Amino acid sequence: MSAELPQETLDPEDWTQLRSLAHRAIDDGLDYLQQSWRRPVWQPTPADVAAQFHAPLPRAPQGAERAYQDFREQVMPWQMGNTHPRFWGWFMGNGTAFGAVGDFLAAIVNPNMGGGNHVGNLVENQVVDWCKEIVGLPKESGGLLVSGASMANFVALAVARSAGAGIDVRTEGVAALPQPLAFYATTEVHSCIQKAVELLGHGSKSLRKIPVDAQYRFDLAALARAVNADRAAGLQPCAVIGSAGTINTGAVDDLEALADFCSREQLWFHVDGAIGAVVAISTTHRALMRGMERADSVALDLHKWLHIPFEAGCVVVRDRKAHRATFSLTPEYLAHAQRGLAAGADWFSDYGLQLSRGFRALKVWLSFKEHGLDKYARLIDQNIAQAQQLGELVSAADELELMAPVGLNIVCFRYRGRGGTQDELNALNEELLIRLHEGGVVAPSYTKLNGRYCLRAAIVNHRTRSADLALLIEEVLRTGRVLQGAASP
Ligand SMILES: Cc1ncc(COP(=O)(O)O)c(C=O)c1O
Repeated sequence: MSAELPQETLDPEDWTQLRSLAHRAIDDGLDYLQQSWRRPVWQPTPADVAAQFHAPLPRAPQGAERAYQDFREQVMPWQMGNTHPRFWGWFMGNGTAFGAVGDFLAAIVNPNMGGGNHVGNLVENQVVDWCKEIVGLPKESGGLLVSGASMANFVALAVARSAGAGIDVRTEGVAALPQPLAFYATTEVHSCIQKAVELLGHGSKSLRKIPVDAQYRFDLAALARAVNADRAAGLQPCAVIGSAGTINTGAVDDLEALADFCSREQLWFHVDGAIGAVVAISTTHRALMRGMERADSVALDLHKWLHIPFEAGCVVVRDRKAHRATFSLTPEYLAHAQRGLAAGADWFSDYGLQLSRGFRALKVWLSFKEHGLDKYARLIDQNIAQAQQLGELVSAADELELMAPVGLNIVCFRYRGRGGTQDELNALNEELLIRLHEGGVVAPSYTKLNGRYCLRAAIVNHRTRSADLALLIEEVLRTGRVLQGAASP
């Protein structure tokens, strides 16, 4: 007689108890969002809380109740703050309450979206088709949901490289390229593009950072000169990366002109639309994106201006075959069957690096249905109008200085007060920003433009109201005056 095997499982011993804990967690979560505005935007994690995170690997059970209490006390209160109405750092979405429910439900059904024949594929395909519709590429294009625009840009550039290499680069490797490839973007391009080019094996030198005009957009004459010079020097120009909204100032390259240039020069035209591709849904502002629909590939982010909870980005590639040829690899254990659970000609793992993939499509699918895209468009318009308003408030204040044209929803400015050297103003504004963060009332971010340190507000926030922007100005003026010794704290 064989010995009886253990029959353990991770299911709760008491479903009723877990159900009540889960209901409490949802209530606490919704309270957290509803009350966002009551908390400081940001506050540092206290040292005694941080110390808790050095406890050793928990071998013994603590139970869901205790784990949840730890979350309530040690994690929940010390957040980044990007759910707050006065968070304008980097370029982040707020997330939404129902989007969070979508994440919960995705974890409940928990399919692996790498492959197999199940309804999740229909959901993701539909979401990807919706993204194609947003950016204006045909339904026959390839596409994939990814973690965010960094990965979307990487996937797109990998396809561009494979398609333009002139050799089977997957087999031969970059060392076999007859001519080194070159890629073109502006000095304002996001760092993830450089990382992608580096990781594809071309070296950062092969990414030509072309100068920008006064609006921080591609200098097209300089681009043409660079491509000609590279050809003359024996390099093979491969792809041009246009920015539909740059991270520093929200500048949108002339995408129509770039499309013309790429078609004349037979270059791959990629659009990094992490910030602005979704502006195409706005009837008021969509003209800015004209030309994007002619791209060979587009990266867009759903966790930014569409406020899908992190992570959610999408890559769309016009040439579906080229997209598949760059990533598809089907060993015996992943062969696609004719029928049954393993059926399906196309698995998502054929279009990207990941095999195991989460069901991020669900929160997008639910959120789009919940609100409808017209509402998202109005919120984009609202943020763009708020950025204009903030720009006007800055211009109207003698002690402040607008540092760049307001692009989309991004405002770069600084406190000048009585003035000073560039170094003094840089140091003053750097300290000012940290004080704003530590004050917990407002959280803009920062950049440097032509060596000048700027406060930078990227209004990607469906909770921001005009009064919040007035408060930002008030706080900057108050803190700037304190730092210049022009008033008491
Ligand atoms: C223009 C641009 N491209 C790419 C990215 C990278 O996107 P993600 O953080 O979603 O990977 C960002 C992030 O802010 C961005 O602003």
